[in-house]
Amino acid sequence: MQASHVFHRQLLQDMPVAVSGQGITLTDSQGKTYLDASGGAAVSCLGHGHPDVIAAMHRQLDQLAYAHTSFFTTAVAEELADTLIDTAPAGMSNVYFVSGGSEAVEAALKMARQYFVEIGQPQREHFIARRQSYHGNTLGALAVGGNAWRREQFKPLLIEVEHVSPCYEYRDRRADETAEQYGQRLVAELEATIERLGGDKVIAFVAETVGGATAGVLTPVPGYFKGVRELCDRHGILLILDEVMCGMGRTGTLHACEQEGVVPDLMTIAKGLGGGYQPIGAVLAQSRIVETFRQGSGLFQHGHTYLGHAVACAAALAVQRVIQRDGLLAQVRERGAQLQALFQEAFGDHPHVGDVRGRGLFWGIELVADRASKQWFDPALKLHARIKRAAMAEGLMCYPAGGSVDGRCGDHILLAPPFVSTPDELAQIVQRLRRAIDKTLAGVPTLATA
Ligand SMILES: Cc1ncc(COP(=O)(O)O)c(C=O)c1O
Repeated sequence: MQASHVFHRQLLQDMPVAVSGQGITLTDSQGKTYLDASGGAAVSCLGHGHPDVIAAMHRQLDQLAYAHTSFFTTAVAEELADTLIDTAPAGMSNVYFVSGGSEAVEAALKMARQYFVEIGQPQREHFIARRQSYHGNTLGALAVGGNAWRREQFKPLLIEVEHVSPCYEYRDRRADETAEQYGQRLVAELEATIERLGGDKVIAFVAETVGGATAGVLTPVPGYFKGVRELCDRHGILLILDEVMCGMGRTGTLHACEQEGVVPDLMTIAKGLGGGYQPIGAVLAQSRIVETFRQGSGLFQHGHTYLGHAVACAAALAVQRVIQRDGLLAQVRERGAQLQALFQEAFGDHPHVGDVRGRGLFWGIELVADRASKQWFDPALKLHARIKRAAMAEGLMCYPAGGSVDGRCGDHILLAPPFVSTPDELAQIVQRLRRAIDKTLAGVPTLATA
């Protein structure tokens, strides 16, 4: 085969060529099919080839593909914003459209900083975020992100951000603590960090409501985010919740924060917003923040060429309408319970599955060399990469990653099947995953190293 001119993510690997997609199945150029059990990277909530979304995109293309937002607004962007605000957490009034998750996080960070400049608190200059988090790969998003490996070589380019502990119950809750007490210990750690930096020096605390890509679906313990919210309020600090991966229905409610009983000041969304039909992300902002901008400088000093792209907005609007029309949030909860039962059956007594955690159709499986001690596999084995290859050979797309524990050690597999998956498809996913894991483990030494 002729050498590819694409600058691929992995330069040493030949990728299959995807040629078509229908429902939860992708087909490559050899005719091999793959069940998309991760929705790519928790993106394809409606699966592939959804006729309503495709028709909406065609209609928009025939009318207008693109109009720059410094000249025009469009009916479709206005309608999408209305739809998102109708269903947003209390107090959200406006939507800032971008083209993906990292752009949404960058915009939220700058929005938060400019807000404090506008209200006469320019001394606020610190962000606090969490270790083991992922907020994107652009420099601002990477700086707030807490994955040591992803940050390492770019450190000299990153703004300084304080990182506190993630909410990682499986590994970090002590045996003598309840889940609530563990959550309060984390809140106390955050409080100590705020006090060390100075409560009037901090711009925002940034967190994924449910941790996703880099630690494998870390669900918050009860009361944790309520404690965080109170702390932020007490110090006048903004709470930015990153729901790029866990939001837009993935956990069984439209926004993951609904299950925590908290409302953020700014919230980022992407992935499931457009379901992969177009690149689109957004920041949802509280009216208090938007009004401050309106009555202050009158502009947010930011922007990109493709903000509010008309075809992207049309795709997202169609995706969100299908989710509402077809009652897919309830379906996510129902299928989520089915998937959890299938996991229990397949992995409940598996010697190398340490933890299975998740909500709705968003699940993480943490692999361990030894269940009792929770000892991880030697990271040099790159177990996660082997499992991904084995799964692809089985005709299964899942989303494994390494460094779950500290950016270096630990392996997990993330699953985020489309909301439209049938019970039979979920059963096939779990069967293929079990085969991929067992075949992989059969081929590696199971002795762990620290
Ligand atoms: C929570 C979270 N934030 C931000 C991003 C970055 O999004 P994108 O890859 O669209 O830039 C991701 C991507 O996985 C994510 O999971």
